[in-house]
Amino acid sequence: MTDWRARRGPIGVLTGAGISTDSGIPDFRGPRGVWTENPIAELLSTYQNYVADPALRVRAWQARRDNPAWQATPNPAHLALVRLAESGRQVGIITQNIDRLHQRAGSGTVVEIHGNMFEVVCIDCEFTTSMATTLGRVAAGEPDPACPDCGGILKAATVMFGQQLDSDAIREAVHIAETAEVFLAVGSSLQVEPAASMCAVAVDAGADLVIVNAEQTPYDDYAAEIIREPIGDALPRLVSEILGDS
Ligand code: APR
Ligand code: ZN
Repeated sequence: MTDWRARRGPIGVLTGAGISTDSGIPDFRGPRGVWTENPIAELLSTYQNYVADPALRVRAWQARRDNPAWQATPNPAHLALVRLAESGRQVGIITQNIDRLHQRAGSGTVVEIHGNMFEVVCIDCEFTTSMATTLGRVAAGEPDPACPDCGGILKAATVMFGQQLDSDAIREAVHIAETAEVFLAVGSSLQVEPAASMCAVAVDAGADLVIVNAEQTPYDDYAAEIIREPIGDALPRLVSEILGDS
């Protein structure tokens, strides 16, 4: 058994879409990912295109309405991370996911490095509201609802391609990565920066990197161990091994 399991210090976790596929939310780049199956869908997530093209915004609001995350519930992988934290271990989660399943599972420290899909912001003023409220306006006949305060464009509180990440989120993510003794990268192709580079921050600070992912990633060479089995099985097993009750 690899000795990283015996390390007793803080555990950092970077999660990606692959931890939520068992909850019915497709990932992006996996064999049946959203971008894999429909490359132009990625255009919906590009900030410049979104701001410039009203027709694309109408499709984005429909995609938000139809997002399977609305019906999703946390799965055994999310719950395994809660069990790890409840055992008394210091666990910090950096998630690239916008589905809030970690929070719904009961995880406390969750840094949403790519934002979340349940809040709406105006790109021109400080107005914010809930996605549910705004989707109510879409259902009532506004295909591309404008900001009620300034008439500006509204968008989900997610980080789109071409947007800056929130500096506080990055700072919190770096703190988790540089203080971790073990850094688990779970369900991410580790192709999007700066999120993926948290793996390098952790390893540079002396952590053992453990990658739990069905497919290869650019960080595989840095890993103390790579686990290819399905995350829904792998993560509960790893937590049992870490807690010594497997
Ligand atoms: N078990 C193991 N691996 C899985 C499972 C599973 N059940 N389901 C999916 N995977 C793996 C896929 O093989 C893939 O390598 O999870 C990985 C998910 O990678 P991506 O789809 O690229 O998702 P992610 O890394 O989170 O994407 C990062 O890109 O599109 C943007 O902002 C979006 O946050 C997202 C970011
Ligand atoms: Zn506004």
